Amino acid sequence: MTILSLQGVTRRFGGLVAVDAVDLEVSAGGVTAVIGPNGAGKTTLFNLVSGFQTPDAGRIVFAGEDITGRRPEAIAASGLVRTFQLVQLFQNLSVLENIQVGCHLHTAGGVWSALLRSPRTRRAEQEVEARARELLAFVGLDAAAETEASALAYGQQRLLEIARSLAARPRLLLLDEPAAGLSVDETKRLSGVIRDIAARGTTVLLIEHDMKLVMNTADRIAVLDFGRKIAEGPPATVRENPAVVAAYLGGAPLEGANPDANPGANFGGTHA
Ligand SMILES: Nc1ncnc2c1ncn2[C@@H]1O[C@H](COP(=O)(O)OP(=O)(O)OP(=O)(O)O)[C@@H](O)[C@H]1O
Ligand SMILES: [Mg+2]
Repeated sequence: MTILSLQGVTRRFGGLVAVDAVDLEVSAGGVTAVIGPNGAGKTTLFNLVSGFQTPDAGRIVFAGEDITGRRPEAIAASGLVRTFQLVQLFQNLSVLENIQVGCHLHTAGGVWSALLRSPRTRRAEQEVEARARELLAFVGLDAAAETEASALAYGQQRLLEIARSLAARPRLLLLDEPAAGLSVDETKRLSGVIRDIAARGTTVLLIEHDMKLVMNTADRIAVLDFGRKIAEGPPATVRENPAVVAAYLGGAPLEGANPDANPGANFGGTHA
């Protein structure tokens, strides 16, 4: 079953076509990666899908509904949630509170009910806390629940962000470069978390430069170059694709194609 479908999606910035007539079908249940050199249009594609920017042409269908041009809040409420390329946390709140803020948007009583503190509200709050702690355990941050977010290591902040985005119980989660700045061990942990998210029924669409992570985590890969989709398929096929190899580093084999490749190496191929 297809959960997300893009048909001829295009976005221009002045004379630059950042996303150029992209067709993409994302199957429900797995992990799909979007890769491509710097400036290929990956983040713009996410902005279009999540409603932060509007396409100049094309159609975006999520879970059978045309969401083209809808507001980001409406798209998030319908079950499509994204994280950003740079960490966006409430730095002065605790780890637990960061997740609770995400959960509160989804409780029956909402904010007004929380202010009045009826028995029903207190019960809802207990449920929110239990859910928040469960999400922290899921990403391995339960021991840090009371820590201020600013005191977390960078890799932990990224995991916290992912846990918070799961508070909304999304059907589709968009992750923009979640491994950027992570150590090798943190990246391994992240790969496990992403697979677990998919196993629990949230489809994942992932932008990533770390080819080892992509090859180990994604079921399917779509490759963008200069805004166009130049290849798509399972990892084993995509990494051998001559057009993909040419788009990166002018012909060197993809990192991650070789299991002995430097696991920290990045694929920041650039046209700049
Ligand atoms: N708001 C904007 N205004 C003008 N140009 C933009 C804007 N956003 C992106 N661009 C341009 O569109 C192109 C695609 O940018 P985008 O950020 O989508 O690339 P990306 O694939 O995410 O790159 P990276 O891997 O570096 O994050 C780039 O040439 C970028 O400079
Ligand atoms: Mg980007």
